[in-house]
Amino acid sequence: MKILVTGGAGYIGSVATEVLVEQGHDVLVFDNLQLGHREAVAEGAAFVQGDLANPADIESAIAGFKPEAVMHFAANSLVGESMTDPFKYLNDNVVNALNLLRAMDDHDVGKIIFSSTANLFADPEKMPIDEGERIVPGSPYGESKGIIERFLHWLSVTKGLRFACLRYFNAAGATEVHGEDHNPELHLIPIVLQVALGQRESVSIFGDDYPTPDGTCVRDYIHVRDLIDAHVLALKSLDEGNRTYNLGNGKGFSVLEVIEAARKITGHEIPVVMAPRRPGDPATLVASSERIREELGWDPKYAEIEQIIETAWAWHSKHPKGY
Ligand code: UFG
Repeated sequence: MKILVTGGAGYIGSVATEVLVEQGHDVLVFDNLQLGHREAVAEGAAFVQGDLANPADIESAIAGFKPEAVMHFAANSLVGESMTDPFKYLNDNVVNALNLLRAMDDHDVGKIIFSSTANLFADPEKMPIDEGERIVPGSPYGESKGIIERFLHWLSVTKGLRFACLRYFNAAGATEVHGEDHNPELHLIPIVLQVALGQRESVSIFGDDYPTPDGTCVRDYIHVRDLIDAHVLALKSLDEGNRTYNLGNGKGFSVLEVIEAARKITGHEIPVVMAPRRPGDPATLVASSERIREELGWDPKYAEIEQIIETAWAWHSKHPKGY
């Protein structure tokens, strides 16, 4: 298929591009390189530097490439940042998505795979969280994703758009060639590995008074490669109907458990410092992914946190300064 990947120079988009190219698809990466890296664009994919904030950029990319489907990764995705800069999220995640959706509509691109988030579930009634859970966004970031999810539904009703909303829990890990390189780095696993590499003195633990077994937040870490396998399955299945899935391993690990696993894998003591809670962080987020397992036969290969951290450690050790 001809697939346009927005944000294909970023962490998750770069792995998607790698996998799609590997599977023989014709891929065009569209990225403004604000957060992404040109070096992260998988070999074999075409690249255009463009900004979704500029409707003409995406319009001409779509008119020229004529994709059959879009995978839309380009977005801001920091819960904490969205609590201090909500307009950035309204603009980059909502207005820019509108520019993309309008260009797709103008050029009859009828399929989209949309990166959504577990931050839709700040106050879940049941754990693990399935797709029937009510949506209570935990932050402007979660809200921005929820708005687009709802709008995809309406574009499907009014225009026949086919969509998949994939709600990522905590994406982590790396392939042999693509890993996580944010600047500044704010995510737990890469920060812990930077400590192990001697690039930081310690890792701060944001809150140890949550209602969880050890007091630190519990998250469901999912390997980025498993995440992308779900995208490919969802794309293949769109002819049979729209899809909405929660994507995780169904198992939660606390911040302290992640650090302990990283100590074993890296052999480094990884000192910790207790810090206040980070605004917007729910105590526990664990996914039920039964629906995609049953409907599409999704079968994540990296179920253990150790396996996930090992792949991240291999990548960070090979790329201590990032790309
Ligand atoms: N944490 C620390 N210290 C740090 C960094 C993180 O204690 O230095 C804690 C956080 O408070 C949180 C956990 O580690 O409890 C994981 O934090 P991350 O920043 O790695 O990930 P988040 O859970 O905040 O967010 C990630 C994605 C979001 C997505 C969310 C869904 O970044 O886009 O998962 O669960 F919405």
